Amino acid sequence: MTLNKTDKTYLRPIYHFTSEKNWINDPNGFSYYKGQYHLFYQYNPLGTSWGNMSWGHAVSDDLLTWIHLPLAMVQDKPYDIGGVFSGSAIELDDKHLIYYTGVGDPQNSGEQKQCGAVSTDGLHYEKIDQNPLLSGLNHQAHNIDFRDPKVWLVGDKLYMAVATKDQKGGKINIYRTEKATPFSGFQWFGTLQNPDMGFMWECPDYFELEGEHIVYFSAMGVGKKLGMDQDHLVYIGRLMNDTLAGTQEVTALSLMDYGTDFYAPQSMVTPDGRRIVIGWLRMAEPFEGCHWTGMMTLPREVTLSEGKIQYSPIVPDTSRMLDIAPMSILEGDKKRHRIYPYSPTKFYDIHITDRIEASLDLVFGDEAVIQVTNSDKQLRLSRKGMDGNATIYTAPVEGATELNLRLLVDRSVVELFINDGTKVISAIAEGLCNVTSFSVTGSEYFDIEVKCL
Ligand code: FRU
Repeated sequence: MTLNKTDKTYLRPIYHFTSEKNWINDPNGFSYYKGQYHLFYQYNPLGTSWGNMSWGHAVSDDLLTWIHLPLAMVQDKPYDIGGVFSGSAIELDDKHLIYYTGVGDPQNSGEQKQCGAVSTDGLHYEKIDQNPLLSGLNHQAHNIDFRDPKVWLVGDKLYMAVATKDQKGGKINIYRTEKATPFSGFQWFGTLQNPDMGFMWECPDYFELEGEHIVYFSAMGVGKKLGMDQDHLVYIGRLMNDTLAGTQEVTALSLMDYGTDFYAPQSMVTPDGRRIVIGWLRMAEPFEGCHWTGMMTLPREVTLSEGKIQYSPIVPDTSRMLDIAPMSILEGDKKRHRIYPYSPTKFYDIHITDRIEASLDLVFGDEAVIQVTNSDKQLRLSRKGMDGNATIYTAPVEGATELNLRLLVDRSVVELFINDGTKVISAIAEGLCNVTSFSVTGSEYFDIEVKCL
């Protein structure tokens, strides 16, 4: 793959993963194998819109800078001729095992079945002869909508969560087999659902954190009812039982990211035991003058503190502190105001703390505006979209008397981590590339640190 010379390069984020060209969606096979992080992703080798689903592939030493590798898998078998859909990867016995959804011939119902592939070098991936491994038929699942296997190992067992649906709505089925036979013998083990959460669930994930049982999924058909600009949204919830066996409800559901570009996240565990999640930030089409569509979030470490899930972004060492703007007190009240020069070709890590005595405004022209008001305990991020219209995303700032915001701005995208990442809003905002300064206005107590690369 080569970069398209006519691309407006200043729109391409520096630290958010993008493909060299063409369309990407879900992160796939996010894993660590033979000393490197592997990120696969849904990819259209032939164009800038969704189609011809294949697995793109990249590797990284630090989760921030990625090396693009040749495509890992394309649609070339009868069982995946309709698409090599999303899935996951694990390391087992020195091999990299891939589990993905093969979509059959769309002329012939396009059934979705779980399939496998193997690599011994992290570069070449061979689909296995036993494919397909599991169909929805007779396995408590829908026979067509049955996709996105997420696998993990516990002791001598291998578990696989698969997204599907029934007449009550979306659900996750859990299958189990022996670690010794990782590509055969999958039996239904449990079902996780919640009847109020849309007609189909996609891209499930499950893990234990500090004894809590955490589930997330991308729910189809929930957003419009809530007046959101996207109908399919990502929810994170918990399980009350400490076993996945049988049928149980996912409870305590909340949005995983309050910005609706976020979709189809996937997690992995690093060699030093950290749980890291990365998600897709969806774009309907490329920016004008560009030939790539969609990007990934920065990887986020997931932790649990006093029962609350927190996300902290993996960020580059933004060592150059920017502090050239003097703080000024606005006339007539005690508000403090600061203006910073802004270069759209840099990466900014902006950290603000405040006691929320009054309100806080962070303004990048009219392209992206962040406002927190103490009166209704809401934080609003307004971003201007490609159509020129502003969309406002709102996240609750639960009864806090203190506020800390971490805002990462990477050319055409912002990610906002609120109160130690207990809430996150991320959004693509192309217009940021025209901004030349940003300002912060807050109470007399606010403090700000700006790092820039
Ligand atoms: C989610 C999704 C998955 C599917 C993939 C196809 O965005 O619809 O359910 O596997 O994308 O590209």
